[in-house]
Amino acid sequence: MPSYPLTVNGTPRTVESWDADMPLLYALRNALGLHAAKYGCGLGQCGACTVLVDGQPVRSCLLKVSAAAGRHITTAEGLGSPEKPHPVQAAFIAEQAAQCGYCTNGMVMGCVALLAATPRPTREQAQAALAGNLCRCGSHDRVLKAVERASGPRGA
Ligand code: FES
Ligand code: FES
Repeated sequence: MPSYPLTVNGTPRTVESWDADMPLLYALRNALGLHAAKYGCGLGQCGACTVLVDGQPVRSCLLKVSAAAGRHITTAEGLGSPEKPHPVQAAFIAEQAAQCGYCTNGMVMGCVALLAATPRPTREQAQAALAGNLCRCGSHDRVLKAVERASGPRGA
């Protein structure tokens, strides 16, 4: 069976599949047991499946596993742990930015990518960066507060 080498959260992994077009999301969830990235729409329209590919936020429902081969994938599991959350995850917890939580993976991954590129984003920059991440629970305001908390105190 064809196999595809990936580096996932810093660890070399191999995914076998007869389908070169299988979405990376399926490889992560079904082959590797990494369930942080969620299946929302499967069409690149909701952001629930967002992971970082070579540091950039990518809709993993749209990226073919064959196109992901040889690349560095970061999922929310690779950011932090319940005992030691990543600063963005800690900010989301502190601001209670998740309601049902289905969108939260994508929000967190988008926020991590935003802060890597723009460490002190304005509210408008954060809104623009996360505009493609949909939340049916209406958590957007708390998500923006979490972005602000994660980027540090204002006026410092
Ligand atoms: S599941 Fe990928 S964007 Fe919605
Ligand atoms: S918290 Fe429910 S979809 Fe965003």
